[in-house]
Amino acid sequence: MQSHPDIERILFTEEEIHARVSELAAQISSAYANGVTLIGVLKGSVFFLADLARALKIHVRIDFLSVTPFLPAGEPGLVRIVKDLDSSIEGQDVLLVEDIVDTGLTLRYLLRALNERHPRSLQVCALLDRSVRRLADVPVLYRCFEIPDRFVVGYGLDYQQRYRHLPYLGILKSEVFRP
Ligand code: PRP
Repeated sequence: MQSHPDIERILFTEEEIHARVSELAAQISSAYANGVTLIGVLKGSVFFLADLARALKIHVRIDFLSVTPFLPAGEPGLVRIVKDLDSSIEGQDVLLVEDIVDTGLTLRYLLRALNERHPRSLQVCALLDRSVRRLADVPVLYRCFEIPDRFVVGYGLDYQQRYRHLPYLGILKSEVFRP
């Protein structure tokens, strides 16, 4: 496949992503026979969530939230919700859908915040896990791919809001972010 000129190499092709998302969707469909509420963390998760949801064979609700780093005098990894869910998740089986888990600090915050809303269950489904960067011990029950400590873009992941639309996951050339 011809990749974008800023991409050093493709990590996972569109076909590989599709196959893995289908596998994960089958697993999730079996585990949540009574249906599931998918919560996407904007913006990176939108492509993954859209493909995952369409591959599920169960009842699905979808909601989104958005977080931003909370910098002033804060600890590293402190975030706050800037776009909250539209609906209550009380009593629901919730799957938090992330594009990537790095340090795990965002996820740790979100899991605490969402658990306070009394879902029946709350688990995590991540497209990518870069566990080599982990600082917080967070439970990622479903994951598509483990990735190395490289700058990965595409299929929702960006660099300065670019490259999200690429249909594959690729490693960004270092001269793009370190000119
Ligand atoms: C990414 C991802 C997580 C967070 C993970 O979001 O969606 O929310 O970073 O990082 P952590 O494990 O180190 O906390 P990003 O800030 O890139 O926003 P985006 O989804 O809008 O691109």
